Amino acid sequence: MSHVAIAAVAKGRFDEIHVPTEKPQQGEVLLKTEYAAMIAFDTYVTDFGYATDTFPMVLGFNAAGTIVEVGPGVDDLKIGDKVTAFAFQGSRSKAMQQYSIQSRTVCAKVPNSMSLAAAATIPDNFVTAFHTLFNELGLPVPNTFPALESPPLSSAPILIYGAGSTAGQYAIQLLHAAGYKNIIATASSKHHEYLASLGATATIDYRTPSLVEDITKAAGGDGKVALAIDCITAEGTIAEVSKVTSETGTVALLLPVKEGNNVRGEAQMYMEIPEGRNPFPKSVNIRGVRTFLYQENAFQKENVMPKILPDLLEKGIIQPNRVHLLDQGTFKERVAVGLELLRHNKVSGEKLVVKIEV
Ligand SMILES: NC(=O)c1ccc[n+]([C@@H]2O[C@H](COP(=O)([O-])OP(=O)(O)OC[C@H]3O[C@@H](n4cnc5c(N)ncnc54)[C@H](OP(=O)(O)O)[C@@H]3O)[C@@H](O)[C@H]2O)c1
Repeated sequence: MSHVAIAAVAKGRFDEIHVPTEKPQQGEVLLKTEYAAMIAFDTYVTDFGYATDTFPMVLGFNAAGTIVEVGPGVDDLKIGDKVTAFAFQGSRSKAMQQYSIQSRTVCAKVPNSMSLAAAATIPDNFVTAFHTLFNELGLPVPNTFPALESPPLSSAPILIYGAGSTAGQYAIQLLHAAGYKNIIATASSKHHEYLASLGATATIDYRTPSLVEDITKAAGGDGKVALAIDCITAEGTIAEVSKVTSETGTVALLLPVKEGNNVRGEAQMYMEIPEGRNPFPKSVNIRGVRTFLYQENAFQKENVMPKILPDLLEKGIIQPNRVHLLDQGTFKERVAVGLELLRHNKVSGEKLVVKIEV
C-alpha cells in the first residue's frame, strides 16, 4: 500500500510524491493524518535544504489525526483515538502525508471538545516552550499545572521577546500555569489583549522607540531581566534583548540565528552567534535551543507529549494557536500557499494548518 505526501524533492523544489505506507513497529502507531501545521522550518528545508541530508523529505512538523494501527508495546493508545503528534522523526513521521508513523512518545491525546485542526497547531512549539523553560532556562517543573505553590523565581522578570510567535504564546501560557508573575511580552499591539489573556503581565510593542525604557519599567528592580527567551533569534532581535538582559542573566535563543530581523531570513543561518557579532557580555549564559534533541531528557520524552499536554488540554490550561486553515485547491496548492506566506514573513500570531485531502 502507498499514499500521497508533499515533500521537498531537491533543494529549491517540492512536489507531490507517493510513499509506502509502513506498519508501526515497537512503540509506534500509524496515524491517518487529517491536518498538518506548517512552520518557517518547512521553508528552510524546501528552499535551502537546511538540516536535510536526504531527499525526498516530507514536509510538516505537526500532525493531527486518528490512530488506525497500534504497534507492539503501545498499551495506552488504541485504534480510533484522536492525537496530535510532534512529527519530527524523519520522513516516515512527517506530517504532510495521508498516513504517518509516530512514536508513542511524540503523541498526545486530544480532548473530544477540540478540533483536530486546532490540535495540529500545538506540538512543535508547545514542546519547544516546555523544553526551553524547564530544561534550557532551568526552571523547576511544577508537580501539577496549575502550580499549587509559587516557584522560587515567581517575581523575577522574564522576557518573552517576539511573543506574537506561536512559540511565545506557549511560553507565556506555561509560565503563567507554573506560577510566574512578571511575564513581559513584546509583540505587535494587535496581539496585546490576547497575550494578556494567556498570562502576560506586561505587553509592549517591539516597534516602539521607547522599547528599552518600557521593558526596564516593567522589569522593576534594577530594570534588567534575569531570564529571556528570544522567540525570533534574528540578529536584530538578539541586539534588542541584549540591551535589557542582566549581566548574570540567562537567555534562550530559538536556533538557528538568522541574519536580519525576521523569522524567515536568508539562506545563511548559524547554530551560534557568529564570532565578533555577539552583543551580550561574556557573563550572560546563552542557551541555544535545539528542540529536536528534547527526547535526550528521559523525563521530557516520557511525559511532555504522552502525559502533560493531554492533562493541560483537558483542564483548558493550554489554548491552541489560532488556526489559518488552508483547505482550498489541491493538496500541493495548499502547501504552496503556506510556503509562500512563510517565505514572506506573512504569518502573524497564528498557525498555518493544511487539510490533508487528496
Ligand atoms: N531551535 C529550536 O528548537 C526551535 C524551535 C521552535 C522554533 N524555532 C525557531 O523560532 C522561530 C519562531 O518560530 P515560530 O514557529 O514561533 O514562528 P511564528 O509563529 O511563525 O512567528 C511569527 C511571529 O514572529 C513575530 N516576529 C517576527 N519578527 C519579529 C521581530 N523582529 N520582533 C518581534 N517579533 C517578531 C511576529 O510577531 P507580530 O505578529 O507581533 O509582528 C509573528 O507573529 C523560528 O525561526 C523557528 O525556526 C526554533
